[in-house]
Amino acid sequence: MDGRVEWGALRGKILERVTPGEAERRLIEAFCERTERELTARLREAGLRAVAEVHGSTAHGTWLSGERDVDIFLVLDPSYGRDALQRALDVAKAYVGEGWTEAYAEHPYIRAVVEGFDVEFVPCFRVDPREGLISATDRTPLHTRFVNARLPRAGQDEVRLLKQFARGIGVYGAEVKIGGFSGYLCELLVIRFGSFEGVLGAAAGWRRGEVVDIAGGAEREELKKRFRDPLIVVDPVDPGRNVASPVTDTALWTFVAAARAFLRKPEERFFYPEEEPVSPEALLEALRGRESNLLFVVIEDDDVDVPDILWGQLYKAEKALANLLRKREFHVIRSAAWSDEASRHILVFELESAAIPGVVKLKGPPVEMAESSERFLRAHLNADSTVSGPWIEGRRWWVETRRKQTDASSLLSSALRDGGRGVGVSRRLSDKIAQGYQVLMDEEIAGHLRGDFARFLHRFLKGRPVWLD
Ligand code: UTP
Ligand code: MN
Repeated sequence: MDGRVEWGALRGKILERVTPGEAERRLIEAFCERTERELTARLREAGLRAVAEVHGSTAHGTWLSGERDVDIFLVLDPSYGRDALQRALDVAKAYVGEGWTEAYAEHPYIRAVVEGFDVEFVPCFRVDPREGLISATDRTPLHTRFVNARLPRAGQDEVRLLKQFARGIGVYGAEVKIGGFSGYLCELLVIRFGSFEGVLGAAAGWRRGEVVDIAGGAEREELKKRFRDPLIVVDPVDPGRNVASPVTDTALWTFVAAARAFLRKPEERFFYPEEEPVSPEALLEALRGRESNLLFVVIEDDDVDVPDILWGQLYKAEKALANLLRKREFHVIRSAAWSDEASRHILVFELESAAIPGVVKLKGPPVEMAESSERFLRAHLNADSTVSGPWIEGRRWWVETRRKQTDASSLLSSALRDGGRGVGVSRRLSDKIAQGYQVLMDEEIAGHLRGDFARFLHRFLKGRPVWLD
C-alpha cells in the first residue's frame, strides 16, 4: 500500500515534467496550424493536388514537453506516381527557404529548423493500406485518425508516462540505433491496456512472440509465423504491418524486466536515470584494474550518413569484427558501438584476453578414415606452422600448431587495412576506415575520454541497466 501512495506522488511529479503547459501547447498549435495553411496554399499554387497535414505526436496530443519535433506530411492524391514525392518536396524546400537538409530512407524527406522547431517534411499518398501502399509513409495519416478516435484525452497522459519510461530505460524510438518502441506503438499499447500501469502489468507477463491484438480475433499462431518478430502488434490500419517490427529482443526484454522491477518498486530513476559523474581518471583506473581487455576501433568520419544508415553500418561492422575475433579463437565477452553522429565513431570489444597462446592442439580425423587422414597429414607434416606432431592419440590424428595471430589488436589492425571489406564491413564505412582508423587497447583510449563517450564507456564497463540494484 505504501508503494501505491508513493507511486501516486511520483506519477504526479513525472506528469508535471512531461506534460506541455498551456503556453507550449498554444505555441505549437499555432505553428502547426499556420504551416498547414501556408504550405497547402503553396502546394496548390504549384498545381499539385496535395495538402499539408501535421501528424505524429503533435497531432495526437502525446508529445513530451520540451520536444521540438514536428512532423508535417505532404499528402498527395493517389492518382500521382512516386515521382510526385519529389515535386511535393520541392515545394516544401521553397517554402522553408534556406537551411533544409535532405535525407533518404526508403523515401525522400527534408528536415529544417523552423522557428525553433525541428520540422520533418514528409511526402506521402492518401491511400487505404489494405489496397496497397504507394510509399512507406502512407499509413501515417490513418494512424492519426485511429489514435484520435480511440485514445481518450486521459490516455494522452498515460502515453506520455509510457514514452518517458521507455526513454528512461533506453528503449524509446524505432530508429536503428535504438531498435525500440515508437511513439505510435506506445499509443497502441495504451489503447489496448488502458493505462501506463496496465501496459507494464501486461508486459511483465509477455512471452516470446507475444501478440498484442487491438482489433480482436487475431489468429495468434498464424501471426507468429508470418512476422517472426519478438513482439507482434498488428497495425489496426494495415493488418499486413507489425508496428513492433523494429523492436529488437534486447529492447523488448529490457522493457519486460524493467516493467517487473518498476511494478515491484516504482522509482523516478526509471524515467530519469541518474547520471553518475564520470571522470577520465576514474575510467582509466577502471580500465587498468580490469581483468579483461578492451579493444577500441576509432573511426574518423568527415561525411556522416543519416543516423539510420550510419547505425546500420556500425552495428554490422561491430558484428563482423566480433565474429572475426571469435573465429580466430579470441573470447569476446561483449561488444558495442558508439558515435557522436557527427565526426567520430568508436567500436568497443571486451575480450577475456587480447592475447592468446601461441600454440594450439588441433584435432585431426580418426585414423580409420583413410582419405581424411591423408589430407590432414599433407596439410601438417611439413608445414611451417607445425610445432610438434602429427601424432596418433587414441583413434585420431592430432597436431600442435602455431597460431597465425595471438594478438587481437594486430588481428583487427590487419583486417581493417582494407577498411574491413574482406570481413564484412559495408562498402561506405570501409572506405572511411581505409582513410584512417586506430585500434587502441585499454588505457590507450585515454585521449578520447570526454563527453558522451566517457558516459557511454562508464555504462559499458558497469554493464548493468541503471535501474537494476
Ligand atoms: P515519429 O517518429 O515522429 O513519432 O513518427 P511520434 O509518434 O511523432 O513520436 P515522437 O513524440 O515524435 O517521439 C511520426 C509518425 O510516423 C509514423 C507514425 O504514424 C507516427 O505517428 N511512424 C513512425 C510509424 O508508423 N512507424 C515508425 O517506426 C515511426
Ligand atoms: Mn514526431
